[in-house]
Amino acid sequence: MSNLPVIEPRPDLYDEAERWSLDEMRAHQLERLQWSVRQAYEHVPHYRAAFEEKGIHPDDVKALEDVRILPFTTKADLRANYPFGMFAVPREQVNRVHASSGTTGKPTVVGYTAEDIRTWSSVMARSLRASGVVPGDGVHVSYGYGLFTGGLGAHYGAEALGCMVIPMSGGQTEKQIQLITDFRPRAIMVTPSYFLSLLDEMERVGLDPRESSLEIGVFGAEPWTQAMREEIEQRAGMHATDIYGLSEVMGPGVAQECVETKDGLHVWEDHFYPEIVNPLTDEQVEEGQVGELVFTSLTKQAMPVLRYRTRDLTKLMPGTARPAFRRMEKVTGRTDDLMIVRGVNVFPTQIEEIVLEEEGLTPYFQCVLTRPGRMDELTVNVEAEPSVAPETRAEIARRLQHDIKSRIGTTAKVNVVEPGGVERSVGKARRIVDQRG
Ligand code: DLL
Repeated sequence: MSNLPVIEPRPDLYDEAERWSLDEMRAHQLERLQWSVRQAYEHVPHYRAAFEEKGIHPDDVKALEDVRILPFTTKADLRANYPFGMFAVPREQVNRVHASSGTTGKPTVVGYTAEDIRTWSSVMARSLRASGVVPGDGVHVSYGYGLFTGGLGAHYGAEALGCMVIPMSGGQTEKQIQLITDFRPRAIMVTPSYFLSLLDEMERVGLDPRESSLEIGVFGAEPWTQAMREEIEQRAGMHATDIYGLSEVMGPGVAQECVETKDGLHVWEDHFYPEIVNPLTDEQVEEGQVGELVFTSLTKQAMPVLRYRTRDLTKLMPGTARPAFRRMEKVTGRTDDLMIVRGVNVFPTQIEEIVLEEEGLTPYFQCVLTRPGRMDELTVNVEAEPSVAPETRAEIARRLQHDIKSRIGTTAKVNVVEPGGVERSVGKARRIVDQRG
């Protein structure tokens, strides 16, 4: 039995596109795709060269299916055109830039016109509404502000919806709890992993998270599982919805789960056209098959992207709560996060599911990869609850090791460390520590 706050659907607040039929959606998409392709071809030398290399022209895009003939865009293309080479408008018309640092080398830079910022705010406002947030609500934003798109993207969306925004950003965990207690926001926007730290802090200072004013969490920027949703909803007595996005395509608000169904994320297809491709053959997969998510922006002015390879793995399904918008399944992982351990493919989300089932463990974990000989080895560091006696830890480690072997099929070493022994993050959690040298 769930005793989560009751949230009534509010179709009266839908925007125009949320009222479109599927046919209207497809008609708008085609018209916008043709515009976007032209915008890229005519103003971005990288795209003009890519079209010429493939022997294609914007006039060849006559139907939505023709998206397949377009060239892919990768993160490497953005890096090669650092900093502003992918922009399709004069520098003076760019109203804002964001950048993501990546692990090595130059950051990836993205740009927005004033109109792009309005579009982004509108899809973020729509995402918040889909989560159950309404005008007038207090929204506490703990995504980082700055070059990262999380904080400012969430902020502008919540403002556009008419909410009272609390621009807290990440970090200063004690202060976060003080403000949540005093300002009584109804919603919070934060990475699920940092939200766990916020819950710990509430409990540390003697507050029951279930008694807080929070009714809705809009969680994203990193993969998280259904098991994590249950953990959060139970512990905090609030709804947890999933928000997805990436800087290269816009930022947060590319897709969002509806609170009434929580059955995958509706892709805001009036602005971002999704495809799923087989990452090895680059071909589109059949509907309902898992593969790499690819996006073509339909309305972005400053930096249109054609068939951007997200490296995120998911599948597309028909719309439910918003029938004209297809859903994507919760992202299981990025191709970059795939660990191949003794020939078996493992994603951190699979480890997360198993860790969360174990009573005596906190939800924090890290996967450490080493290569002592010729083969990769995986060590999973998990953390005991303070109530767990040290003698019991070895038993938990054995059980976890057994579950990983029987359910994922690979051998992993498991360390159950003392409470607080696994690294915390204030933004995206670092699930994989690669020590293979
Ligand atoms: O993380 C944008 C964002 C901010 C989304 C706040 C949601 C909330 P980037 O830093 O460019 O942008 O990272 C994008 O993060 O390709 C996914 O791998 C991952 N990601 C984002 N949202 C989710 C999610 C932001 N809901 C990369 N589930 C993406 C799983 C996600 N992974």
